[in-house]
Amino acid sequence: MKRLNIGIIGTGWCGGIRAETCAASPFVNELHIAEIREERLREVAQKTRPATATTDYRDLLAIPGIDAIMISATPETTHYPMAKESLEAGKHVFLEKPIALQLAEADELIELAHSKGLLFTIGYSQRFNPKFAYVKKSIADGAIGHPISALVSRHITRNLGHKIGGRIKLSPAAMEATHDIDFLLWCFEPRRPVRVYCQQVNKIMQGSHNVPDCAWIVVTLDDGSVLTIGAGWVLPPAYPNFSSTWIEMVGTEGAVMVDDTHRDVYVTTMKSGIEFPISTMPGEKLGHVYAGPMEAETIHFLECVVLGRQPLVTAEHARMVMRVYQAADRSAEEGRPVSIDWLGVPDVDRHSAPADLSTAR
Ligand SMILES: NC(=O)c1ccc[n+]([C@@H]2O[C@H](COP(=O)([O-])OP(=O)(O)OC[C@H]3O[C@@H](n4cnc5c(N)ncnc54)[C@H](O)[C@@H]3O)[C@@H](O)[C@H]2O)c1
Repeated sequence: MKRLNIGIIGTGWCGGIRAETCAASPFVNELHIAEIREERLREVAQKTRPATATTDYRDLLAIPGIDAIMISATPETTHYPMAKESLEAGKHVFLEKPIALQLAEADELIELAHSKGLLFTIGYSQRFNPKFAYVKKSIADGAIGHPISALVSRHITRNLGHKIGGRIKLSPAAMEATHDIDFLLWCFEPRRPVRVYCQQVNKIMQGSHNVPDCAWIVVTLDDGSVLTIGAGWVLPPAYPNFSSTWIEMVGTEGAVMVDDTHRDVYVTTMKSGIEFPISTMPGEKLGHVYAGPMEAETIHFLECVVLGRQPLVTAEHARMVMRVYQAADRSAEEGRPVSIDWLGVPDVDRHSAPADLSTAR
């Protein structure tokens, strides 16, 4: 079996999880990490024993033996330039969402990956949440018939609202609902979004960070099916990064209702009162077991690189998600539904997945 040399740029919360997962994986020969916060670099290096630990990510791009780069840096302005440089250096790329800040940047990255025969995928980790996977399977195996409408309501705490709002002025549609837009569009494939209506509320976060508190988005698909996605980041601070999600997927022959609110396990202590553990979006390591989607997503990417297979999330799909959340932001700003025009713009599924990338460079 081919073993990989992997570089990770930004080993904060998500990058730290990815680094620990890679360090424990038999797919990985060498791990190389880059992190500008020296204390965090030392902390992750101590846990993962990397071949390289540097504060300059370009050191990783200059190492010819590195097969793939995972980019988990913030702020999100770093995503496009880091992905571009990594692809130019001939590395397969796993990039945390968002794919870029502008559609033109996303297009450039997609073209670059294709022209060089490199894998390029985006971190939509909720696809690897087993409850979400069950919803997808219920559609794929025909259990609920043809899906006709769906709702995802997600709320996270203001610990995260403050963390995100403090570093970039992107909306809850772009930073949070994006996961659920991705998931629902995947479930409803090959239907495409054609109209988006969104309302935002500005009562809590505007003063501190000038970002909305929540976004409620209605997406109409080209066959008239409707998706409703709500995303808010103003729940009171709770178990480090508590996330509560509810899904209703309704089809012609049945429905799947999912409670991912994490009320099933609670811990109560004299120090912290009642908390809901195992309730963050990426998940966390619990001794010998990982609870949550990020470990499985990371291993999936490693497997794809070893086998030369297209990862589950295509960059083209991430671009379609971007069109929806950009339309949502515009709809909220202008107070009217916004149409997404695909006519003459064949920009989804424009590229077929590369057949065999195992030798391509
Ligand atoms: N899939 C999920 O569930 C999920 C959850 C949270 C965040 N995210 C996404 O993942 C990304 C990372 O989020 P996070 O919460 O881990 O952020 P974070 O701020 O905890 O970590 C980012 C790290 O990047 C480092 N960094 C910044 N510039 C760098 C540079 N030039 N070189 C090397 N390191 C650099 C920072 O010092 C920081 O430690 C975000 O873009 C976010 O959208 C995804």
